[in-house]
Amino acid sequence: MSENDKSVVRGLRDVAAAETKLSYVDPNGALYYLGYNIDDLVGRVIYAEIAYLLIHKKLPNQQELDELSSQLIVEMNLPDPIILSIKNSPKNCHPIDILRTEVSHLGEYDPDIGDFSKAANYRRATRLVAQVPAIVAAINRVRQNKPVLAPRSEFGFAKNFLYMFKGDVPDDTEASVIHRFMTLHADHGFNASTFAARVTASTNSDIYSAVTSAIGTLKGPLHGGASEKVMDMLDDIDLEKDINEYIQGLLDEKKKIMGFGHRMYKAQDPRTKHLRGIVEEFLHRERSLTLYNRCIQIENAVFEKKKIYPNVDFYAAVTMDALGVTKEFFPLFFASSRISGWVAHVIEQYEDAVLLRPSSEYVGEFGKEFIPIAER
Ligand code: SDX
Repeated sequence: MSENDKSVVRGLRDVAAAETKLSYVDPNGALYYLGYNIDDLVGRVIYAEIAYLLIHKKLPNQQELDELSSQLIVEMNLPDPIILSIKNSPKNCHPIDILRTEVSHLGEYDPDIGDFSKAANYRRATRLVAQVPAIVAAINRVRQNKPVLAPRSEFGFAKNFLYMFKGDVPDDTEASVIHRFMTLHADHGFNASTFAARVTASTNSDIYSAVTSAIGTLKGPLHGGASEKVMDMLDDIDLEKDINEYIQGLLDEKKKIMGFGHRMYKAQDPRTKHLRGIVEEFLHRERSLTLYNRCIQIENAVFEKKKIYPNVDFYAAVTMDALGVTKEFFPLFFASSRISGWVAHVIEQYEDAVLLRPSSEYVGEFGKEFIPIAER
């Protein structure tokens, strides 16, 4: 019996839980941020413009962009207790667990504590857009027993992220790639992690709690954890293996091919062509060429057998590999961009001001006789 006599929609497939103006995922293979087709944005904007667009609902002019960029770079200097906590974190846990912990930890040091105004939430949102990638960079540096780096004033925000993560100065190609990568990952409708953030925000809980919910949700291999599993698959398919047989073997075992399929897209994920194109810029490197050739063969095999396409995570994996990111950090790079979408959705949910609480179909028993414990 359902609470309101409604039928269950498993996985909330095709259920619209709220209205949004932030992004539109067109099942026919297009993605729009605030009305801009991403095909018109990628390669023509820097990532900070996308963060501004999502938070302030319009593209910035040069002055607004300069102000945001310098603000983000300042906020990349993390509070000392956060860096100390990262240094004390276990070395064997998944790095996304540390990211989830430290975002929650940031809430304890919120400079706007007790201020529930819209202005305070915009300040928190902007800080988090900077602090999430800064935490990711710090985790990597600590894991490599290297000093945590401060941002450099002569670099922009995204270039600073890559510099603080790797420790060396990104070249022009790498700087261009990180902007495009982060532009492509910034927002994507009511994906699971964004919806988790909105559910948390819908109770009027704070933005740190909402983003902590989102990170925990993104971690799953059916969502943001997929790119790491894609690299596991690419590493597992060594030269000797016949890719067709390998893919058929996974399908015979009823396993999902990581990096393929999508709840919304019935055609190609519009982000794939951009990420595949980015990988093609690295084909002069032997490893990238080997991985790319495997990807093309896997794409063809999966389409032939299941008529499904790669999603954002498939070529994102090889892109991050080309940037020198180790695979356990792939979901954290996803989060480093999606944070701008998450905070934008949290603000939109606060404005929507309605509790997200679905009903459910009760299929349990009724009328059971209570037996006191002494008689059980
Ligand atoms: C992201 O939602 C978003 O917007 C997410 C995201 C974003 O930007 O936020 O786009 C990012 O999370 C991308 C998805 C990353 N996950 C993966 O790559 C994991 C592998 N993909 C699948 O688990 C699956 O495609 C999902 C989870 C992404 C979507 O699952 P659905 O919508 O619940 O679809 P389904 O599992 O019911 O599959 C429908 C059919 C089934 O075939 P039948 O059993 O009906 O014959 O398609 C098949 C599935 O078996 N199928 C796959 C498959 N994906 C779907 N078969 C093999 N491998 C796959 N990857």
